[in-house]
Amino acid sequence: MQNFQFGNPTEIYFGQGQIDQLAKNIPAGSKVLILYGGGSVKKTGLLTTVKDILKEYQVGEFGGIEPNPTYETLMQAVELIRQEKFDFLLAVGGGSVIDGTKFVAVAVPYAQGDPWELVRDRLPVKNALPFAVVLTLPATGSEMNSGAVITRKALKAKLSFLSKAVFPRFSILDPVYTYTLPERQISNGVVDSFVHVMEQYMTYPVKGKVQDRFSEGLLLTLLEEGPKALQEPKNYAVRANLMWAATLALNGLIGSGVPQDWSTHMIGHEITVLYGLDHAQTLAIVLPSLLEVMQEEKQEKLIQYGERIWNLPKEMPAAEKVAAAIERTRSFFEAMKVKTRLSDYGLGQAVIEPIVANLVAHGMGRLGETGKVTPEAVREILKKSL
Ligand code: NZQ
Ligand code: ZN
Repeated sequence: MQNFQFGNPTEIYFGQGQIDQLAKNIPAGSKVLILYGGGSVKKTGLLTTVKDILKEYQVGEFGGIEPNPTYETLMQAVELIRQEKFDFLLAVGGGSVIDGTKFVAVAVPYAQGDPWELVRDRLPVKNALPFAVVLTLPATGSEMNSGAVITRKALKAKLSFLSKAVFPRFSILDPVYTYTLPERQISNGVVDSFVHVMEQYMTYPVKGKVQDRFSEGLLLTLLEEGPKALQEPKNYAVRANLMWAATLALNGLIGSGVPQDWSTHMIGHEITVLYGLDHAQTLAIVLPSLLEVMQEEKQEKLIQYGERIWNLPKEMPAAEKVAAAIERTRSFFEAMKVKTRLSDYGLGQAVIEPIVANLVAHGMGRLGETGKVTPEAVREILKKSL
């Protein structure tokens, strides 16, 4: 196991009815800005519930944060907050609203330049407005982590930043709020969470038994419960397990003390920013081909994964086991109704070079746990994904 430092300050209130914790945990006298997305929280009534609970506070609203939140939209929230002097932010939504709120939280106090610099140059962030989360879509783990991914449309850039200053103060995770998710978002959430685990697990062994078995537990839970969520959307136990699995998949725990990959995500971000696919769709396209191309580096873990997750027999020859493990991963994504080929989304050979060029332009010429996901490897991965 590698050396590591691990800490996570976000308080989680998990379960049905935990929305009552909102007013108890936002400091009295705060001027609160509620941030949300394209309107699902209006349709479901959650926004009204939140406003009712916060009636003792001065409250404002900022809606319209889009999936893959953009700098362009978020800067409007920054202006509003600077003018109206809101001092506490509340994100009500999925990963995009939470990530958008994280950017806004660090952008408001950054007066020395364009807040985009914080993302582009990954500047150390010292100040951030405090914020909390009411989660409506289990997928990204953003409700309990210190990362955010922001798109600047005009530059065709989708970049991530990390800062301890953007751990949410607290997050409310009520599985009932996920009942209204459209099928596509249920599927996206399961695939995204699955790939988050894989980015931290599918590398090379470092005798991290605890991390491996935590990861395998999460993968098995996602495999078992993911399809059930599509069949029985109002099954509380299923939704609760998916929600907690998604949070634990990316709150820093399973990645501590082990090598991490993240190349599927980095390639995926470029596909989203260039061609508009959902985040999880890009992951479903890239991961199976990436495992094929990088199978030598990942062989030991692929075998472990094949045996422990897919119950492949110990005596099966290694090459066959690796191929079967990868094929089953692809089939799982397809069973979750997320297509795994570029051609399924109307994309062909012509997209390969722009994706590679964007990666290189963003300083990502050597990705993966050993730096072997080079532009050549990315080309090969995308060719296999056609
Ligand atoms: O915008 P509204 O109207 O609210 O609708 C949203 C949106 O259209 C809808 N939705 C959310 N909760 C709902 C609901 N509809 C009905 N009922 C509900 N309860 O779902 C759509 C997608 O929402 P979005 O927030 O975009 O999805 P997700 O949570 O998958 O977030 C994706 C974003 O997170 C980033 C991705 O790159 C992408 O930008 N990621 C963030 C990470 C992080 N911060 O750690 C890690 C991830 O790897 C990921 O990159
Ligand atoms: Zn992701």
